[in-house]
Amino acid sequence: MRMTAAVLHEHGLSMPYAESKPFSIEEVDLEGPGDGEVLVEVHSAGLCHSDLSVVGGLRKRALPVVGGHEGAGIVREIGAGVTHLQPGDHVVMTVAGGCGRCGYCINGRPALCDNVGASRAQGFLPNGARRLSLRGKPVFHYSGVSCYAQYSVTVQNSLVKIDPTIPLSVAAVFGCAVVTGAGAVFNAAAVRPGDTVAVVGLGGVGLVAVMAARIAGASRIIGIDLMDSKFQLAREVGCTHTLSASDPDLVAKIREISGGGVDYAFEISGSKAAVEPAIAITRKGGEIICVGAGRTGELYQFPHLQLVSEEKVLRGSLLGSGIGERDIPRYLGLYQDGQLPVEKLQSGTVTFAELNGAFDQLHDGGAIRQMLSPHA
Ligand SMILES: NC(=O)c1ccc[n+]([C@@H]2O[C@H](COP(=O)([O-])OP(=O)(O)OC[C@H]3O[C@@H](n4cnc5c(N)ncnc54)[C@H](O)[C@@H]3O)[C@@H](O)[C@H]2O)c1
Ligand SMILES: [Zn+2]
Ligand SMILES: [Zn+2]
Repeated sequence: MRMTAAVLHEHGLSMPYAESKPFSIEEVDLEGPGDGEVLVEVHSAGLCHSDLSVVGGLRKRALPVVGGHEGAGIVREIGAGVTHLQPGDHVVMTVAGGCGRCGYCINGRPALCDNVGASRAQGFLPNGARRLSLRGKPVFHYSGVSCYAQYSVTVQNSLVKIDPTIPLSVAAVFGCAVVTGAGAVFNAAAVRPGDTVAVVGLGGVGLVAVMAARIAGASRIIGIDLMDSKFQLAREVGCTHTLSASDPDLVAKIREISGGGVDYAFEISGSKAAVEPAIAITRKGGEIICVGAGRTGELYQFPHLQLVSEEKVLRGSLLGSGIGERDIPRYLGLYQDGQLPVEKLQSGTVTFAELNGAFDQLHDGGAIRQMLSPHA
């Protein structure tokens, strides 16, 4: 079939993107679904900072690529061997699925799946197939999802069936922002009632971590960002305190609020500059969970002796460190109960024509989660 999609041909074009137009809106050919694959009509796709980093060239992908890695839509066709989905099912499209067979997957860590990781980097579907082309030339899949498109062919492990009463524009953010932010709190840190928490970076992913910390019963939830404009919403969704990352007394203030440092600091800005304060505000024996993703190859230094003498744990968390098929339905349940009000993250809907300019907005901090509506 032929459909409209946003294709990235080049990394690192100059800003503003509304003018340089890194995504070109093209009529792309889509084949399939083949064995184990599913054709989804995409209704909504979120703009994540990870997409912005790829546009900017901080991290590279096989090009040209149809963008988009968190979305929601309706199943229109299933390939042979697809067992748990039917045409008409509403689905979240997620990068959090694994192959289900490798050592990581069978040990409950599909985010680390070797097979999906390799296909993600190479721009193929997790089963090794490529279904996209433009004027007869190959086009790659973004994280096996490619939902900046009217339709997507993906494998069933990248899809989670959902309650059709949930608006698809809300469901879409569960594919990355929610699974990542909530999973960092529930799975990676396993925050318990009474724990003290700081979240550095109050964007789409960080605000979900704030919501999750509130559900987990954290006694102090301290939100930190360079932009004061993020604080009102952060308090609305769970922060007990908000502080500017540029406050010269940041560390002292947080030590006072938390009684000596927080139990868990989540770095969710993607800025290397945020890692040092995240470590400094964590109590001895506490954990720093790095969720933000920086430039490929960028190095970070840490005093060796301090790591030993303070017993701090510095760890990463990829896609929520959990099992998407298990966690996404649970988080959707929390949303339906009103505990995870992720609809508040929405900063409006954009059309294909507005997509490039929307990345300027995300870069400037003027938006939390903007949703592409590919059929608008
Ligand atoms: N680990 C994963 O699996 C995973 C998944 C999704 C996104 N990410 C990464 O998480 C990060 C956040 O994504 P997002 O979509 O929420 O981005 P976003 O742009 O919506 O939010 C980032 C926030 O960080 C703030 N910030 C920037 N520098 C800061 C600093 N030095 N100190 C404090 N705050 C600072 C910004 O003002 C902004 O509010 C990105 O790096 C993204 O690539 C990681
Ligand atoms: Zn993402
Ligand atoms: Zn696997």
